[in-house]
Order: sequence, then C-alpha cells, then structure tokens
Amino acid sequence: MKKIYFIAISELIILFVSSCGGNSGSTSTSSSSGGQSTVSGAAVYNRSCITCHQGTGAGIPGAFPPLAKSDFLADKEKTISQVIKGYQGELVVNGVKYNNVMPPQQLNDEEIAAVLTYVNTSFGNSGAAITADEVKAVRSKLR
Ligand code: HEC
Repeated sequence: MKKIYFIAISELIILFVSSCGGNSGSTSTSSSSGGQSTVSGAAVYNRSCITCHQGTGAGIPGAFPPLAKSDFLADKEKTISQVIKGYQGELVVNGVKYNNVMPPQQLNDEEIAAVLTYVNTSFGNSGAAITADEVKAVRSKLR
C-alpha cells in the first residue's frame, strides 16, 4: 500500500515538473522570436505578482500597495524601474505611505511589458500599454 502511494506521488511530481518545464520553454521561444509578443501578461502576473499584490490588484493594506487605481502607474518609467530593480524604502501610493521591500523581478523585457500592460488595463485601470522597447530603454538607463 505504501509503495503504491509513493509511486502515485512521484508521478505527480514528475507531471508537475514537466508541465512547468514546458511552460517556461514556450515562453522563452516566444520572447526570443521578436516581433509579435505572445507572452501573456495575466500568466506573468499570476506567477510573479499575485502573492503580494493579490488577485484583485488591491494589495494588502499596510504591507503591499495596490496596483488597482494606483496613481504611481501614471509614471511609466518609475513603474518599469520598480519591476526591474524592485524597491526598498518609503513609497506613496494614492496618498498612503508604504515602507516595505519589493524584490527585483527576474523577468525579460517582453514579460515586463506584458505584465505591466495587463496591470494598466486590469483592476479598473485604464492606463496605456507598455512595449518591450520601453522596458529595454529603462533597463539600459539603470545599468
Ligand atoms: C514579495 C512581494 C512582491 C512581489 C512578488 C511583487 N511586488 Fe510589487 N511591490 C511590493 C511592495 C512591498 C511594494 C512597495 C515597496 C515599498 O514599500 O518600498 C511594491 C510596489 C509596487 C509598485 C509601485 C507601487 C504601486 O502599488 O503602484 C508597482 C507598480 C509594483 N509593485 C508592481 C509589481 C509587479 C508588476 C509585480 C510582478 C511582476 C510585483 N510588483 C511583484 C511587493 C511585491
């Protein structure tokens, strides 16, 4: 009985690992092909941002600032830099002070463009799309 459990569990692990591998593989091929982006901003959000900023983009009061109706997003360059470099220290969103840490996000230009376009057009936001070229330009200034 124990053995059967073990086999079932290890099979689940293998399934999980191989499905993850498949996903990241397709992401990198699409991003290296240039031209039209097929990266899903929603998928990047659900993978990289949702734990802190939440599914509704509302964040968590006192800890994680909202992306929903955030006035911070009006500054494209600051927003892109926030995701590339992360941020530590005082930051004000919609008049509310936060003083926490956001780690730098290990995402490529296309993924950042896709996720920020998703953020800008979700959660009741009506901001502009962000392109991979804009992300690239900010990244080169930060180096
Ligand atoms: C580990 C938690 C965490 C993750 C993951 C995270 N953030 Fe943040 N984010 C924060 C915190 C904390 C701040 C505020 C930083 C401070 O107080 O100095 C912040 C601030 C921001 C801001 C500026 C303030 C605002 O609310 O408009 C933006 C934009 C942002 N994050 C976008 C993202 C995006 C996009 C992702 C995913 C690619 C992401 N964050 C992932 C914790 C996180």
